[in-house]
Amino acid sequence: MKKGSRTRSFGSSQRINHDASGYYESKLYQDLKHTPQAYSQADLPFPNSYLDKTIHHSSEKMSELPDNCLHLMITSPPYNVSKTYDLDLSLAEYLDLLKSVFQETYRVLTHGGRACINVANLGRKPYIPLSDYISQMMLEIGFLMRGEIIWQKGAGAGGSMAWGSWQSASNPVLRDTHEYILVFSKGTFARKKQDRENTITKDQFMEWTKSVWTMNPESARKVGHPAPFPIELPFRLIQLYSYKNDVILDPFMGSGSTAIAAITANRHYVGYELDQHYIDLANIRLEPYLLKATSSLLA
Ligand SMILES: C[S@@+](CC[C@H](N)C(=O)[O-])C[C@H]1O[C@@H](n2cnc3c(N)ncnc32)[C@H](O)[C@@H]1O
Repeated sequence: MKKGSRTRSFGSSQRINHDASGYYESKLYQDLKHTPQAYSQADLPFPNSYLDKTIHHSSEKMSELPDNCLHLMITSPPYNVSKTYDLDLSLAEYLDLLKSVFQETYRVLTHGGRACINVANLGRKPYIPLSDYISQMMLEIGFLMRGEIIWQKGAGAGGSMAWGSWQSASNPVLRDTHEYILVFSKGTFARKKQDRENTITKDQFMEWTKSVWTMNPESARKVGHPAPFPIELPFRLIQLYSYKNDVILDPFMGSGSTAIAAITANRHYVGYELDQHYIDLANIRLEPYLLKATSSLLA
């Protein structure tokens, strides 16, 4: 048997079969030791009547869904910054709304299920580090943090002319060309394969396990929704963090990008959305993808 490398003071060039036990025994990790929570770990079947549907009410309560019944949550929450669907909530009220939704998410995820939240930080006077608040909130709920992806928004970003003070140290302003995708697990990091099927290719795995992703943003005008993410974003997360036929939740479904990615990757979806107009839009956008999925099943 090959000897693995160990974490050394100056790192190691050999990362394969790496023995990091010394590191995880360090004082830094003492308070973070994960003790499994006392809840049922048994998966419950997902109710057929809600499979591949977007449900028309607030995701603060997902009473249609039993505990432990789905495998991956992907979402981009409303930012409460005066898009047409945003309520004018205080920061505390807004974070309370998100907390209710993510607590429900925790309940409906299976043991080992994952949650991925796409979020941008807001404002400048002062800067609101929403991604930090949400990471902290998820830890309070009981999620384990897996990591953080920086979405570098490619050529479509950085057009803002809000320089602050032009070419002067007086008050230069950072122009964000990135967003975050925060990634968590419920109860345990690993979700064993058992008889399930992976669909990720070698090249996708090599590229998408890197913590910086470059993707162009989606055009709001083209989609007909004020804040869609590109279908590529949920597609990558689905390929990386779920198995074929898993059920993917988006509690803020908007124009249905997560649903499209789920169907394209041979998964199922369930969504919540407050605005019936966006549910109709999502269903129209989904149609060609559903047809394609059905015809490839029949072929
Ligand atoms: C940032 S958008 C999501 C966009 C989506 N990722 C896409 O690609 O189209 C947030 C969506 O959440 C919806 N929403 C806001 N509050 C909600 C709530 N409490 N429950 C369910 N949906 C809500 C809004 O109507 C909006 O369509």
